[in-house]
Amino acid sequence: MIVLGAVEIKKGVYWVGAIDWDIRHFHGPSYHTPKGTTYNAYLIIDEKVTLVDIVDADFVGVMLENIKEIIDPSKIEYVIVNHVEPDHSGGFPKLMEYAPNAKVFCSKNGKDAMGHHYFGDYSYEVVKTGDVISLGKNTIRFIEAPMLHWPDSMFSYIEEESLLLPNDAFGQHLASSKIFDDENDLWEIMMEGKKYFANILMPFSPLIIKKIEEIVNMGLKIDMIAPSHGMIWRSHPEKIIEKYMEWARAEGERKAVIVYDTMWNSTEKMARAILDGLVSEGVATRLYRVSISDVNDIITDVLDAKAVLVASSTINNTMIPNMAYFLEELMGLKPKNKLGASFGSYGWGKGAVANIEKKLKETGIQLVKEGLQIKYVPTEEDLKMCYDYGKEIGKLI
Ligand code: FEO
Repeated sequence: MIVLGAVEIKKGVYWVGAIDWDIRHFHGPSYHTPKGTTYNAYLIIDEKVTLVDIVDADFVGVMLENIKEIIDPSKIEYVIVNHVEPDHSGGFPKLMEYAPNAKVFCSKNGKDAMGHHYFGDYSYEVVKTGDVISLGKNTIRFIEAPMLHWPDSMFSYIEEESLLLPNDAFGQHLASSKIFDDENDLWEIMMEGKKYFANILMPFSPLIIKKIEEIVNMGLKIDMIAPSHGMIWRSHPEKIIEKYMEWARAEGERKAVIVYDTMWNSTEKMARAILDGLVSEGVATRLYRVSISDVNDIITDVLDAKAVLVASSTINNTMIPNMAYFLEELMGLKPKNKLGASFGSYGWGKGAVANIEKKLKETGIQLVKEGLQIKYVPTEEDLKMCYDYGKEIGKLI
């Protein structure tokens, strides 16, 4: 564990979180984090010393060391739990050993979830959208944000500093010794933000649109967004808000993603010919062989694509199993406004394309062409048919 030390991000507001350089899988195995992550917690020094969010249990010692650089943790009177998932609340019991009388602010669902995670006798105060508390010089306004990322989630907004603390929203799984966006590569941060949105928040896109519109209508001035993972947006916080709206609306670019797997390369030949057809229509196209690709990267590309083409050779009357994993992920993430199609080779029995089409339909993807199936090895004529298949889909995008 490495202690970065407390960092003042606004007057009297300190980052006191922890960097997890080593984590490579988040949410169990489903989210790959090759660049690690951070658990951001924020300490506000005021008449009421307040901690906003905590950290994962394994890192609570680091957080406490950071707090001790600024103040004795026993002086904390308010703890705000914006989100109960253990990466943000795991250190709660240890923290409360230092400040057993602290008042704990959370949403109604947050109180329920806290009760199911931590069994001590704590002093909870339930807050809802519009509630404000005074810390002395600073005022905190609460905004419930259910499903960003759990039903309990909420944002805290420090009015005097125009600082939004939205927990998971606008976060990225990215570890760095520098905590501000402008101290890092902005493009890299935005890409990690996109991956985070695609792989965690995509199912909640309609709620995200409503929540952002609600915040805009509140007329809140936002100078800085300090999420609970990754870098703090201080150079252009509006840019990540604009991107969230764009991703959530899922209008899609003239872009297609082909995801395939292949046994003896016949389906691969089909995929490459279909890719050529799409490209001939000016469609930006990405090709992924699922068994050698990172599913999170594929999903990230699906986020702003208009079409998803999924292909597999048939084995045992169905698709190659790696494809089933990808499709299960995709179905859970509920991508909106996507066109789709399926294709693949077969030998003596079919099955892959029909099962893929079934999954795509269950995902809500609109099938725009009948599945294309070729027996054993594609001929030159078959490959021309594949090219035309891609071209026809390209015209629809
Ligand atoms: Fe970063 Fe939903 O927890």
